[in-house]
Amino acid sequence: MTTTRRNAFRNLLALAAGSPLFSQSPGSLLEKVNEEDVYGPVNVHEFEIVARKKLHKLAYDFIAGGVEDENTLRANRAAYERTVLLPRVMVDTSKIDMRLKLLGFDLESPIIIAPSGGKNLVLPNADEVVATAALVSKTPVCSATGVQKLLSEGKPLLWWSNTIGSPTKESAQTYAKRVADGGGKAIVLTVDNQYQSNRDRNNRNKFDYGYMQTGVPKEGQKPRSPATAAMWQPHTPGMTWNYIEWLKSGAKLPVIVKGILNPEDAALAVQNGGDAVVVSNHGGRQMDGVIATLDALPDCVDAVAGKVPVLMDGGIRRGQDIVKALALGAKAVLVGRAPLWGLGAYGQPGVERVLWMLNAELKLAMGLAGTPNLAAINRKMVKQRSW
Ligand SMILES: Cc1cc2nc3c(=O)[nH]c(=O)nc-3n(C[C@H](O)[C@H](O)[C@H](O)COP(=O)(O)O)c2cc1C
Repeated sequence: MTTTRRNAFRNLLALAAGSPLFSQSPGSLLEKVNEEDVYGPVNVHEFEIVARKKLHKLAYDFIAGGVEDENTLRANRAAYERTVLLPRVMVDTSKIDMRLKLLGFDLESPIIIAPSGGKNLVLPNADEVVATAALVSKTPVCSATGVQKLLSEGKPLLWWSNTIGSPTKESAQTYAKRVADGGGKAIVLTVDNQYQSNRDRNNRNKFDYGYMQTGVPKEGQKPRSPATAAMWQPHTPGMTWNYIEWLKSGAKLPVIVKGILNPEDAALAVQNGGDAVVVSNHGGRQMDGVIATLDALPDCVDAVAGKVPVLMDGGIRRGQDIVKALALGAKAVLVGRAPLWGLGAYGQPGVERVLWMLNAELKLAMGLAGTPNLAAINRKMVKQRSW
């Protein structure tokens, strides 16, 4: 190449670099996050970047991962990108009210912390840390554990207990009674955890599920068990619809049925006494190849026909994701990984910051969508993008 031709080529490159077509990829911008400061990350994605840097690989992969080819994990997020909003304008949105009544409880916003086992992979006593952040943030928390200290101190934590079930009626009753006596206000019954699912990342990392209690192996320690693919480890494969009644005969608590994707099951959950339904695919962690939750939501909402509230979870990282879920009929949403990225990045302040951020983004999205309250959000405001 002659000098003049080389210069011309350089000029062309320089021009192109300044063009919006060559703007920095989001990935390179994310590298600029200030890791020292809880106010560094400006969104949930950036909390994940910081958490990833700080966490043991076993822990990061356990939280971030889905099952097998992770098609459903990706589909959950892709559904928000494909579903677009048709905002309203010229509506007075100088005040935004995100409050709602759900199962008789007064909530500040439609955001609830989803149940997540294995938080001890992030830090010791992590369930209590998250529960404390939930209390400070006035956010209900679904959890199997970590709330007893706060509740025994009389703190106004709204705790919904979480179970995957148990084999007998007697054990179901005892469980429900224990939750009620311990200050639980509802039971979240997870119905999609019949078997330990097949998570390639964990299998590759030789992840021992015992680490969920004990935490990650210490520096230099080899993985305890050479994990094989979790092909046949039953949890509660014998559980059927009568389990809801079993729980209710133990204590008068609402039962929230989590893990519904098929509209026929949504209807059956209600017929069998469920007080709410959570459209969920466990964050893409149980069965790969199942429908994205935002796509499953409208049919489940129609099947339930307003008899009980329908909630949803899966892939929520932004306030506008929540607007889309509410528009498609969810009364409220659960967030799983988002608070865990806050936890992994900065502990309790990180969880609080993530919850604050999601609420702030939701409030702004409602303002820009012309919806001053949750009731104003409706199905006519969303459309499936065809391009
Ligand atoms: C690390 C981790 C552990 C989880 N453990 C449970 C659990 O014990 N019980 C349950 O019902 N769901 C569990 N889930 C699923 C969440 O409750 C929720 O359905 C899912 O995370 C929502 O998707 P998201 O993470 O994209 O928000 C877990 C999720 C994660 C990420």
